[in-house]
Amino acid sequence: MSHDFSETSDLDPTFVFEFQTYDEVGDGQRWSTWLSVEPLCRGPEPRPDWVVTSQAAVDTELGILKTGKEADAFLLERAVPGSDAPGESVVMVAKRYRGEDHRDFHRSAAYTAGRKVRNSRDNRAMVRKSAHGRAVAAGQWAWAEWQALVRCHGLGLAVPYPVQIDGTELLMEWITVDGETAPRLAQTRPGEDLLASYFDQVRDFLSELARHGLVHGDLSPYNILAAGEQLVVIDLPQMVDLVGNPEGMDFLLRDCTNVCSWFRARGLAVDEHDLFGDLMSHAF
Ligand SMILES: Nc1ncnc2c1ncn2[C@@H]1O[C@H](COP(=O)(O)OP(=O)(O)OP(=O)(O)O)[C@@H](O)[C@H]1O
Ligand SMILES: [Mg+2]
Repeated sequence: MSHDFSETSDLDPTFVFEFQTYDEVGDGQRWSTWLSVEPLCRGPEPRPDWVVTSQAAVDTELGILKTGKEADAFLLERAVPGSDAPGESVVMVAKRYRGEDHRDFHRSAAYTAGRKVRNSRDNRAMVRKSAHGRAVAAGQWAWAEWQALVRCHGLGLAVPYPVQIDGTELLMEWITVDGETAPRLAQTRPGEDLLASYFDQVRDFLSELARHGLVHGDLSPYNILAAGEQLVVIDLPQMVDLVGNPEGMDFLLRDCTNVCSWFRARGLAVDEHDLFGDLMSHAF
């Protein structure tokens, strides 16, 4: 399909882009937003070879994975039409923070992604919890989770690879087992050896964070996915400084308690205060 834009040359290019978008992608689709976000809103280098960067790629909604308190998780395919080659086709998780009306999905307008809006009007709106204020807050949560994922990925920790942030929408690696969404740790019944290995992985994760002065802040067997023998930690928007945040230590103890309770209920003799003490010794 080709278009002759010569007659629209005096129009604003955004208009042409939208026109083109409406014309060529179907319902539940949009052009890949990879190139419409600022470079800092794209995943860190080196990028995994499965990340689709082609300008010809189309994003297709595959459906909802889970609704949450502040955000919903969806599956999204990004692919060059007709291709299923690696690097030209991938399914990712789109975590969308609620708070603003989502753009019409088949319209792909220019974004204001990643722009940190900090002005007094926004702050007042957030305090009032107006629609505008909720939109600002949702964008800040998404941005906070993006930064936490990038930071953890940079430390070599097992978190989903952060692909892209665009306003209130975060795209990340889909963690799977045999092509299906990996179960949450809470849903698994590991045998003795795997249970012990899982605990070691959680402890190592927490201690690496603590060594860098960080706390997950909402760790529980619901925010840890079991990708076979490998655990992957998710849901990090509230990651905080262990010492900079006045509640940092409380959050760490709560994280320890949440995970230790689960492991203990599964038969592993662990104690949150021992774990907490161990982690604090790494932190200082
Ligand atoms: N990268 C991912 N790969 C596979 N599944 C994921 C991924 N991210 C999220 N999920 C699924 O979506 C669920 C919700 O994600 P997440 O915990 O990040 O969002 P949430 O809004 O904070 O949810 P909740 O309010 O239930 O804590 C997860 O429990 C998991 O089942
Ligand atoms: Mg969660």
